[in-house]
Parts: sequence; C-alpha cells; structure tokens
Amino acid sequence: MKPSLHLLQALLLPLSFLFLSVAQGLIPKSCNTQDQGSTLQVYHVYSQCSPFKPSTPLSWEESVLQMQSKDQARLQYLSSLVAGRSVVPIASGRQIIQSPTYIVRVKIGTPAQTLLMAMDTSNDAGWVPCNGCVGCASSTVFDSNKSTTFKNLGCGLAQCQQVPNPTCLGSTCSFNLTYGGSSIAANLSQDTVTLAADPIPDFTFGCIQKASGSSVPPQGLLGLGRGPLSLLSQTQSLYQSIFSYCLPSFKSLNFSGSLRLGPISQPKNIKYTQLLRNPRRSSLYYVNLIGIKVGRGLVNIPPEALAYNPTTGGGTIIDSGTVFTRLVQAAYIAVRDEFRRRMGNATVSSLGGFDTCYTVPVTIPTITFLFSGMNVTLPPDNFLIHSTAGSITCLAMAEAPDNVNSVLNVIANLQQQNHRILFDVPNSRLGVSRELCTLF
Ligand SMILES: *[C@@H]1O[C@H](CO)[C@@H](O)[C@H](O)[C@H]1NC(C)=O
Ligand SMILES: *[C@@H]1O[C@H](CO)[C@@H](O)[C@H](O)[C@H]1NC(C)=O
Ligand SMILES: *[C@@H]1O[C@H](CO)[C@@H](O)[C@H](O)[C@H]1NC(C)=O
Ligand SMILES: *[C@@H]1O[C@H](CO)[C@@H](O)[C@H](O)[C@H]1NC(C)=O
Ligand SMILES: *[C@@H]1O[C@H](CO)[C@@H](O)[C@H](O)[C@H]1NC(C)=O
Ligand SMILES: *[C@@H]1O[C@H](CO)[C@@H](O)[C@H](O)[C@H]1NC(C)=O
Repeated sequence: MKPSLHLLQALLLPLSFLFLSVAQGLIPKSCNTQDQGSTLQVYHVYSQCSPFKPSTPLSWEESVLQMQSKDQARLQYLSSLVAGRSVVPIASGRQIIQSPTYIVRVKIGTPAQTLLMAMDTSNDAGWVPCNGCVGCASSTVFDSNKSTTFKNLGCGLAQCQQVPNPTCLGSTCSFNLTYGGSSIAANLSQDTVTLAADPIPDFTFGCIQKASGSSVPPQGLLGLGRGPLSLLSQTQSLYQSIFSYCLPSFKSLNFSGSLRLGPISQPKNIKYTQLLRNPRRSSLYYVNLIGIKVGRGLVNIPPEALAYNPTTGGGTIIDSGTVFTRLVQAAYIAVRDEFRRRMGNATVSSLGGFDTCYTVPVTIPTITFLFSGMNVTLPPDNFLIHSTAGSITCLAMAEAPDNVNSVLNVIANLQQQNHRILFDVPNSRLGVSRELCTLF
C-alpha cells in the first residue's frame, strides 16, 4: 500500500462522515419505494423500514451485546454445517431473535403478497411462514389460499429428494430442518416469486407449517447459498449465479443498501479474489485469506490458522448474517496483540465479548485483509465500534468459539458494510470495492 493512498483515505474519511450525517437528514422516509429492475433494497433489521426493530430503542451497549450473543449462536450454526453431521447448536441465554441482520422485500403469489425476508448467503433454502403455521412468530404470513398460482409439490418429484428429512403428508412432500437453535417443518411448495421487477414462476420453497425456537426469521429466509434448491440454482438462466450486495451501516438506519441480482449493472472496476468451494461445507462461500495487516504492520499469524482445508472444512468464509468478524484463536490473538502494541500499550478494557476497548482515541488508521490476489483495506468504521457518547471504542472482532469440528474464520457484515461484494460463481471469484450504500 502506497503512503499517498493512506493520506488520501485519511483526508476523505472525515468527508464521508460528514456526507453520512448530512445525507441522513435529507433522505426522506422511503420504505415503500418499489424495487426496480433486478435490484432489491436491503434494510438492516433495526432500520426505520423494518417491522423487526426493537419497540424501545436499545442503548448502544445493549445492542452490541445483543448482536454479539446472536453471533455466538450463528457461529455455532455455521460450524455445525459439516457434511455428515447434524449438531444442533444451543442458543445461549435470553430468548432473542437470532435471525440474520439484513432483510429484503419479496413478493409471493398471484396477486402478490409482500414479505420482508432475511437474506442469508450461508444458506440454500427459501422458506416463508404460511397459513396454518403453528409457532410462527409473525402475524404476517403468506396465505397460500389467496394465491391462484400456488401449489404443494407431491412426494414423487425430484425436488422432494433434495430437501432434508422428507416425509409424505398425504400426497404432499413435507420436510423439516434446524436453523440456528430452531426447527421448522414445512410443505414443499411452488409459486411465483417476484424479486424487484423479475417474476420467477414456479419457484420452489418451503411453506412453514410448524416452527419452534427463536432463530426463525419472522417473515422467512431467502438463502443465497449454492445448493441445488437455492435461489441461485433455480434462477440459473435469469441471474447466472451472479449477485452483489452493499450492506448499509447499522449506524445510519435511514439508509438502505442493495442486492443486485444477475450479471447486468455489476461493477466493472472491482478487485477480485478466488471464490472457493469446500466440499465439507458446500453451501458456504470460502475465500483464501492469507494475512492481516494492522496499520502498515503485517501480523505474524500461524499459516494453519488461516489455511483452506477441503478435508476438515477449515478456512475463511464471507457471510452476510454474522455481525462481527471471528478469527480462530491463534489468528485473533495475533491481530489483537498487534493492535494493542500499536496503541502503545494504552489501558485496555473489555465489553461483552470484545476484549480490546479503549477510552482514549484509537489512532490505528486501517486494517487490511490480504486475500490471494486482492488486498482489502478497511477504514475505522469497518473495524471499530464507538459508544454513542464516544467514550468507549472497541476493536469489533472476536475469537471464534472453540469448535470440535474444524476451524472457521468468518468475515462478517460490519467488516463488509459500505462495500460492494460481488459473488461471481461461474467464474469462481469474489469482488470487493468501496461504495457508500445508498438508495440506488
Ligand atoms: C431518520 O429519518 C427520520 C425522519 O425522516 C428522522 O426523524 C430520524 O432522526 C432519522 N434517523 C437517523 C438515525 O438519522
Ligand atoms: C386455507 O388453507 C388451510 C390450510 O392451511 C385450510 O385448512 C383452510 O381450509 C383453507 N381455507 C379456505 C377458505 O380455503
Ligand atoms: C423431522 O423429520 C424426521 C424424518 O422424517 C422425523 O423423524 C422427525 O421426527 C421430524 N422432526 C420434527 C421436529 O418434525
Ligand atoms: C401442507 O400440507 C398438508 C398435508 O397435505 C395440508 O394439510 C396443508 O393444508 C398444507 N398447507 C398449506 C399451507 O398448503
Ligand atoms: C508495550 O509492551 C511491550 C511488552 O510489555 C513492550 O515490549 C513494548 O516496549 C511496549 N510498547 C510501548 C510503546 O510502550
Ligand atoms: C497485498 O499486500 C502485501 C503486503 O503489503 C503485498 O506484498 C502484496 O503484493 C499485496 N497484494 C496485492 C494483490 O496488492
């Protein structure tokens, strides 16, 4: 990294903060803006436009701690996705909704019914709560009786072999699965699903009839993983397994980001690294993380802490649903110690699962992730969280939970906010470029 670029970033950063705060005041409430083309608006679950935002605003500490404990459950879930195993993770502590962080507006049926579904890059499935559901959290469900294009699929169909635990209820194919600490039972169904302006006829999804636990996203899940029944597989001819998103910061809840489906209008000037597929966790998007820099200093991380391993499932994934990046112990401790050293050994405190917090200003300008063929330099907004009063600043990363299966580093959504992340599956590459997520 050339010094002039650092200087440029140092100069531009205060400007972008200024822009953010000015823009927040100007952007009108636009929660009902129709999605255009193949681009969907993406909202944070705590956004003004989200029906799932807390009824009383959470304090900063509360929301950080809540997001951390959701992450803990998600990490256990992601680790459990090892071929041949089915570990049901135990949700910790209080009953909280552990759904993924971002939602998109999806229309289902004829005439269309709108649901705000959680977007999850680490899951293949599409499912929505349906009429007749027992235990679904939301009163907003898809009423299949009101759709003229809805049908339940029979047990003899090929799709019935692609769902977990299929059973026959009468002649309807039904299945069940666990998600986070929850389980659902659903009919395998088909209907027209409309994403932005694109109708997708005969889309196959789970129509939830029974749900238990608190991890089920209230209005359904839109999995962007890569398995046979995933959205990508079902829209191969339309979107060619290419999509990108820009995730808005949870600090600017009036902003929406975007999910852009298909090859059209994807960025041309974008840096790429190789996208890997790991047979042990075949839904997940693996990348080859080879190093981390704190400021200009390359951290001395044992290579085995980052190594991609198709036999164990080890390596690094990029995930839209985890909030704070998790590194396996040896990597995290090395990064954290370098961070502390560069802070001149200033007094460190902790907050929840964060162990590197300061009451003095943090002077480290950047953290860089080194991937094969691509370095991504993050500005402070992508690696620090500040209390609203500005009195505490924490390094927003943590150690991955101890895991009997295999090591997994997760590049999480706080680290991706205000970047465009392009998943180009046919060319096995992942693109990253900085972008201030706004309404289109
Ligand atoms: C969001 O917009 C509303 C009205 O448009 C405004 O009252 C509120 O202060 C804004 N919130 C933030 C966090 O900018
Ligand atoms: C609507 O669907 C449910 C199945 O969930 C069924 O039990 C019910 O009878 C249907 N209602 C009407 C009016 O068709
Ligand atoms: C899920 O399906 C399996 C196989 O059909 C069945 O044995 C099990 O009882 C089901 N679990 C739930 C919670 O419905
Ligand atoms: C799901 O399948 C069962 C068994 O065929 C049926 O009774 C129920 O009405 C179906 N639910 C919906 C929403 O279609
Ligand atoms: C920080 O602490 C380490 C280990 O105690 C020491 O070697 C180093 O000189 C200290 N750095 C500063 C800037 O005080
Ligand atoms: C990434 O940074 C490292 C260390 O600064 C450097 O050696 C490498 O050439 C850079 N890679 C790219 C693709 O820029």
